Amino acid sequence: VIFRWQDDLPDVSHTAVVVIDTLRATTTIATILANGAQAVLPVGGVEKAFALKEQDPRLVLGGERNNRPLPGFDAGNSPYDYPRAVVEGRRVVLTTTNGTQAVERTAHAPWVALGSLVNARAVAQAQQSAHDLGLIVCAGTEGQVSLEDVLAAGAIVLHWPQEACTDRALIARALFDKWRDHLYEGLKTAQHARAIIAQGLDADVEYAARLDLLPHAVVRNKEGWFVNQ
Ligand code: MLT
Repeated sequence: VIFRWQDDLPDVSHTAVVVIDTLRATTTIATILANGAQAVLPVGGVEKAFALKEQDPRLVLGGERNNRPLPGFDAGNSPYDYPRAVVEGRRVVLTTTNGTQAVERTAHAPWVALGSLVNARAVAQAQQSAHDLGLIVCAGTEGQVSLEDVLAAGAIVLHWPQEACTDRALIARALFDKWRDHLYEGLKTAQHARAIIAQGLDADVEYAARLDLLPHAVVRNKEGWFVNQ
């Protein structure tokens, strides 16, 4: 487990990686796919997102800066921005402040999944069946460790055999154990949760706390897009 993507990220060219940005990018991507989108491409930069849309106007363009939807985009970074009526059968390009940048950093990994509390069990199972465990990368917030991502890492590590756990994995697990029956309360203590609640996004925090709401893991396909598995 890496607590923020800037932490000594090792060479991942032979490692199965799970990237976590619970509030909100990876929770939102899992929801976009659960609501029937064909695929989601997380991109780091706004210009790249616009360039992709120019090439293919049918794309749905989504994301945030300062937690707010971007001018000229179709949707923001809230899971509630992507109901079935908006995304069914569509491809979605998403750019966010931290999460999608962390995903770009893992481009060389042979296998990448996106994890969050809403699909923790499915991701743990997919990772175990694809590889011998591997690495969990918490995106963090603006370069800092974020409680919500370590919490979600704990929900995935829960499914690992204890002997496979590093101390960082055990720290994540201990945090999850502390809050497992009160995940919404736990999430709300996180700095980034408090920041987005202050912007009126409490519903997104409540949604992100719904452990194992979704049955599918989100994994990268051969084209580099993320799909349900
Ligand atoms: C990010 O990638 O920084 C987050 O998903 C921010 C957010 O809450 O929208």
